[in-house]
Amino acid sequence: MKVDFLSLADFSRADVESMLDDADRLKAELRAGKSTRPLVGKTLAMIFEKPSLRTRVTFETGIKQLGGASVYLAPEDIRLGARETVADIARNLSRWVDLIVARTFSHRSLVELAQHATIPVINGLTDLLHPAQVLADLMTMRERRGALENATVAFIGDGNNVVNSWLNAAALFGLDFRLACPPGYEPDPKILARAQALVPGRIQILNDPAAAAKDADVVYTDVWTSMGQEAESQARRAAFAGYQINAALLREASKDVLVMHCLPAHRGEEITAEVLDGPRSVVLDQAENRLHAQKAVMVWLSTRSQPGA
Ligand code: CP
Ligand code: NVA
Repeated sequence: MKVDFLSLADFSRADVESMLDDADRLKAELRAGKSTRPLVGKTLAMIFEKPSLRTRVTFETGIKQLGGASVYLAPEDIRLGARETVADIARNLSRWVDLIVARTFSHRSLVELAQHATIPVINGLTDLLHPAQVLADLMTMRERRGALENATVAFIGDGNNVVNSWLNAAALFGLDFRLACPPGYEPDPKILARAQALVPGRIQILNDPAAAAKDADVVYTDVWTSMGQEAESQARRAAFAGYQINAALLREASKDVLVMHCLPAHRGEEITAEVLDGPRSVVLDQAENRLHAQKAVMVWLSTRSQPGA
């Protein structure tokens, strides 16, 4: 059997804590100049249907640091599901490489890839979820706060893929998670209902950014228009106009608040330059931790998977 990393909801809290501990260790070893190369001879195939800076560079750099190699497959290279079926791509790649990371539009394409691959498949973002991002965010919160327990996370903006993965994380760790979004931009209803059932009373969907940010330990935002939604950008700019992290909103939060953003950011839209580049911002720690967290995931999956089974 092989193990995939498609959603945080597929893992226990102990599993995710073990990945985070491994990520901390890999980060410390890298900083100490110690080379840890458990994936010598392994190859990671990287299927990208959408653009990327952080995800691509951190997976490519990560596998290389672990002793392995990568093959980047741009949208026009394989045309997932158009030139040949997702299942055939999965079966072929399984004969040559050892791991796959995929960034797809449809989450179903990712699940199908994983179903037909005999090697671990990692979610590099879909329209539904972005678990690799939230794993790095949890790592950043642990570094900055010492623990995840009893944290209040306020997300201001769209109920998108990052929010859906945060709902899964909140359910795992018992976090208080508040989303302030305009009506009509709520997260996936099934993921929301599951999280609300697992941690009753801890998940709130609000329309008021100030109420969401009140005494929060983390205020988080993301773009108003995600990749693939470009045709809606004008309507979204109007709908999200009041949903900005700025200095006034930050005054509602805890004085030790961490400002988080998965990036790329649009200064002047979902966040002001002053706050994004200001002293409470940890966005570059989040970006750096993508590298360490994803290295931990690659090692974790490789160690627990039986290839070819
Ligand atoms: N946060 C993130 O996933 O960035 P990229 O889209 O640049 O990979
Ligand atoms: N919600 C954004 C995240 C980018 C990392 C998107 O899907 O485009």
